[in-house]
Amino acid sequence: MVTVALAGATTGFGLTILRTFLHLNKGEHKIVLLSRSPQPALSARGIDVRPVDYTSHAQLVQALQGVHTLLSVIGGSLQGLLDSQLALIDAAKEAGIKRFAPSEYAGNGYEGVDLYQPKAVVWEATQKSGLEYTRFGCGLFMSVLATGTPKGRTEVGEREGVATGEEEALAGLRPWNFVVNVKAGTADFAGDGSAPTVLTEMRDVARFVWEALSLEKWEPDMGMRGDVKSFRELVQILEKVQGRKFLSQDNSFEKLEEEAEDPSKRFYNQARMALEKGWGMVGDDLNRAFPNVKPTTCEEFIEKWWGGVQLGEAKWEEMKSFSEEDF
Ligand SMILES: NC(=O)c1ccc[n+]([C@@H]2O[C@H](COP(=O)([O-])OP(=O)(O)OC[C@H]3O[C@@H](n4cnc5c(N)ncnc54)[C@H](OP(=O)(O)O)[C@@H]3O)[C@@H](O)[C@H]2O)c1
Repeated sequence: MVTVALAGATTGFGLTILRTFLHLNKGEHKIVLLSRSPQPALSARGIDVRPVDYTSHAQLVQALQGVHTLLSVIGGSLQGLLDSQLALIDAAKEAGIKRFAPSEYAGNGYEGVDLYQPKAVVWEATQKSGLEYTRFGCGLFMSVLATGTPKGRTEVGEREGVATGEEEALAGLRPWNFVVNVKAGTADFAGDGSAPTVLTEMRDVARFVWEALSLEKWEPDMGMRGDVKSFRELVQILEKVQGRKFLSQDNSFEKLEEEAEDPSKRFYNQARMALEKGWGMVGDDLNRAFPNVKPTTCEEFIEKWWGGVQLGEAKWEEMKSFSEEDF
């Protein structure tokens, strides 16, 4: 049994990690939550909530007493991602925690994606910390394929207490049409959209991380794969499930680089180019370590959230960008 502390698990992906851990935990581990605000509803469920102020080293060290593994799932502002995680690493060293995993959950490294530069700095500090550490890689969250689904929630959503099927499917991801607009039936590829990338359902990410808590030793990089598909292949699956033809267009990297000069379109364009260059092809270390975990495939996910949905003819809509303010 280890005592695992989650930092930043009250919204977004972190909340899905917390909910999945609570669902899976049959007494194997003790879960502690570090949050910047009191969480009475979570405390009432018996979770050890420890309020923290990331600007107070002494208070952070105190909050980390007795913790074996520290998982950061901090999001929010880029400055917060940077400052709070650096403060967390400093405090973790002093508190004597054994393992740390920074808020990564993306592709291989940081090249070409400006918004990930704070992650690069945190990664360097992690490597120098003297703690045992890992970088969990999962490629793209599969949830992007559910944006706009009109389907109702299932028993998973009921258990988690979410209001709609879309909320269940997004699992904390903001609604986002990334390359494909599944509801409108369009695909705006980087290049010709034929490069394979890893996509992992967020609850499967949580499940793999849960399993990794029991490993004797952590490797510096631990990847997991839900499925491997190119965007072009995803469109083929979507067309089959939705029973309609998608509109699609290829885009040269020169054009997308030009678009990326607009700050409000930078992350979207840099991320889709990086994926087309193979950035999302993380390893399958955790699949090999835990063959009993059968992650959701893209076919299964698309069938679940789009099977039987009646949709009109495909038509282009304006793409909403995903900028720093949305991060
Ligand atoms: N691979 C993908 O497709 C993909 C997609 C989206 C996100 N991600 C990754 O998932 C991780 C979580 O992102 P998210 O969007 O889910 O996060 P988020 O919902 O924006 O924030 C998560 C938590 O961070 C804490 N937080 C916010 N600002 C903070 C600050 N200044 N200092 C300390 N804590 C702060 C909050 O916890 P408290 O208020 O309780 O302290 C919040 O609940 C990130 O590493 C992100 O890059 C990956």
